Amino acid sequence: MKAIVITAAGGPEVLQLQEVEDPQIKDDEVLIRIAATALNRADTLQRKGLYPPPKGASPYPGLECSGTVEAVGKNVSRWKMGDQVCALLGGGGYAEKVAVPAAHVLPVPHAVSLKDAAAFPEVACTVWSTVFMMSRLSKGETFLVHGGSSGIGTFAIQIAKYHGVRVFVTAGSEEKLAFCKDLGADVCINYKTEDFVARVKEETGGQGVNVILDCMGASYYSRNLESLSLDGRLFIIGFMGGTSTEVNLAPLLAKRLTVQGAGLRNRSPENKAVIVSEVEKNVWAAIEAGKVKPVVYKSFPLSEAAEAHRLMESSKHIGKILLLP
Ligand SMILES: NC(=O)c1ccc[n+]([C@@H]2O[C@H](COP(=O)([O-])OP(=O)(O)OC[C@H]3O[C@@H](n4cnc5c(N)ncnc54)[C@H](OP(=O)(O)O)[C@@H]3O)[C@@H](O)[C@H]2O)c1
Repeated sequence: MKAIVITAAGGPEVLQLQEVEDPQIKDDEVLIRIAATALNRADTLQRKGLYPPPKGASPYPGLECSGTVEAVGKNVSRWKMGDQVCALLGGGGYAEKVAVPAAHVLPVPHAVSLKDAAAFPEVACTVWSTVFMMSRLSKGETFLVHGGSSGIGTFAIQIAKYHGVRVFVTAGSEEKLAFCKDLGADVCINYKTEDFVARVKEETGGQGVNVILDCMGASYYSRNLESLSLDGRLFIIGFMGGTSTEVNLAPLLAKRLTVQGAGLRNRSPENKAVIVSEVEKNVWAAIEAGKVKPVVYKSFPLSEAAEAHRLMESSKHIGKILLLP
């Protein structure tokens, strides 16, 4: 098969389409012929040599895909050849085929095309496991997501609105904020021209928000603590603003705050299976009802993976970028 190989650590030009060995399935896995894969920020880190694949994972990038089941392992009962599916991957999405544990596979929702379904597994599993399963965001609460126009953000806005939450977002341009508003965001903050802490306080009568989903890390840590309400929960999923900082811990005690962080890719297969199952139970109905839609900015042929990475690193995109083998 053909796959995108990271030929050396470096810029987008190191991504090369090459002929490689087909993946072999284990007894509990299915083989998917890929219709589409979607980019994630982590792929750019893997390309730079900063995010190596976990032990046993495919060496090729790509954390999610959609496609058609081409073969099933002997212990797999749920899926059969010809099923249209999407899947959470430990790697290997930038290819024509991928082997994946059957428990990490989801049906393509009827409301969504086979290709667009590739936009869901990583964002749905990340946001559901962090914001809902671990930070327990619930109806009537307030929620701030940084990078509202990102792949993660565009999904988080929609699923939080579906669950009756008041949604705050930050983004870096008026165009991106207008898009977030159309998706349902209630309070849209331009982080380049406004102080998000002051705006959050103003919009919540001085109380702060209940939950924050953060992709910045160090650069927003203090301001995130300041923006939380009593019993507030901060969930960190990215370090675009660095990993080290000096911080005043006083708000943790004064406001009984919870700070958590997690990466999805390095969870155990069993743990990922629980998340995938919870996503199917709690998110798929919202997609079927048309309340959560895939937000696809642009699709590229797989051979143009380098161009797709350049687009992601420019941050001009809104939502997800797809690659089509
Ligand atoms: N832990 C996990 O399991 C996990 C899983 C998936 C993703 N993630 C993380 O989640 C983040 C989003 O991922 P993605 O794939 O959706 O990436 P993406 O679409 O490339 O989004 C990155 C976003 O960050 C925004 N941004 C940059 N600086 C910002 C700032 N100072 N304040 C607020 N927003 C800022 C960018 O837009 P503007 O600056 O123009 O607003 C852009 O929308 C990444 O950090 C990624 O590593 C973590």
